[in-house]
Amino acid sequence: MKPRVFSGVQPSGSLHIGNYLGALKNWVTIQDDYECIYCIVDLHAITVYQDPAELRAGIERLAALFLAVGIDPAKSSIMVQSSVSGHAELAWMLTCVTPVGWLERMTQYKDKAARQKTVGDGLLQYPVLMAADILLYQAQIVPVGEDQVQHLELTRDIAQRFNSLYGETFVVPETKLPTVGARIMGLDDPETKMSKSATGAYHAIYLLDPPEMIRKKIMRAKTDTQPAVDFDHLGPGVANLLTIFQAFTEWPDEKVRRHFAGKRYGETKKEVAEAVIAGLEPIQQRYRKISADRAYVADVLDRCAARIRPIAEETVQLVKKRMGLYTRA
Ligand code: TRP
Repeated sequence: MKPRVFSGVQPSGSLHIGNYLGALKNWVTIQDDYECIYCIVDLHAITVYQDPAELRAGIERLAALFLAVGIDPAKSSIMVQSSVSGHAELAWMLTCVTPVGWLERMTQYKDKAARQKTVGDGLLQYPVLMAADILLYQAQIVPVGEDQVQHLELTRDIAQRFNSLYGETFVVPETKLPTVGARIMGLDDPETKMSKSATGAYHAIYLLDPPEMIRKKIMRAKTDTQPAVDFDHLGPGVANLLTIFQAFTEWPDEKVRRHFAGKRYGETKKEVAEAVIAGLEPIQQRYRKISADRAYVADVLDRCAARIRPIAEETVQLVKKRMGLYTRA
């Protein structure tokens, strides 16, 4: 049997090239070697207030984008978290074995809580729901960014604690995939990772940005005080642009070096912009076609949910039995 991979993406905000080059592109390549479940985590999104109409639209947009980048629903499952009730059910059962101190220590909780007037209970429970997502499918591998590593550790702790209290029940998941994606930094701040939640208008390139916008953003990207590319003194901004170029073109290191050595930043940026535009064009074209067919997207989500629901139900039944909850004998 192929090892099972599970990962989740929030439907709030838009996907950017950091998400694509760092994760999604890799998700597409591994589809034949792993049994992959890619989840649109709408229940996580509502841990902070979301405008309902925007959330609803964001879910469909993300599903269409998953398809547009090449996730093939015949091989992988693209699903919406709230459409499989086991996520919420298992989250409750896991909540009951999770010490509140573990949750209060989560750095993402502390950051997010500091920004809210009223901290919803859901924000504290967030990582328990994430543990439920993963353990529900007994996933072995969970590809996530660095910002989620602490949540993954917690998932392992919760699984181990449950297993020791109630007997072997859950697969304890690993974090990593054998291949890693590119690490893309913010265009306006090449010291920090490109982020969905950053507010600067010139921080990220979104997958659906039109060519003009992409050119504008890249031309404004932060470089350094040198005039041209010098591989012996490569500042973080220029290094980031070249990483982006290389990720889209898949040129080998040697070719990139030969091509860009001594090239002025203005010219370099133009070439990077054109590589990004060319790389995103087929995705954008597919997106336009797919998103115009809402019934198709809905069918994909339905079919995928139906395919994986039995796995979820089996786990919920097992957990109920282990804990002594009522199941028909
Ligand atoms: N918390 C993750 C993020 O914000 C999203 C997520 C929810 C997730 N459930 C998951 C990721 C399960 C991996 C596995 O990026």
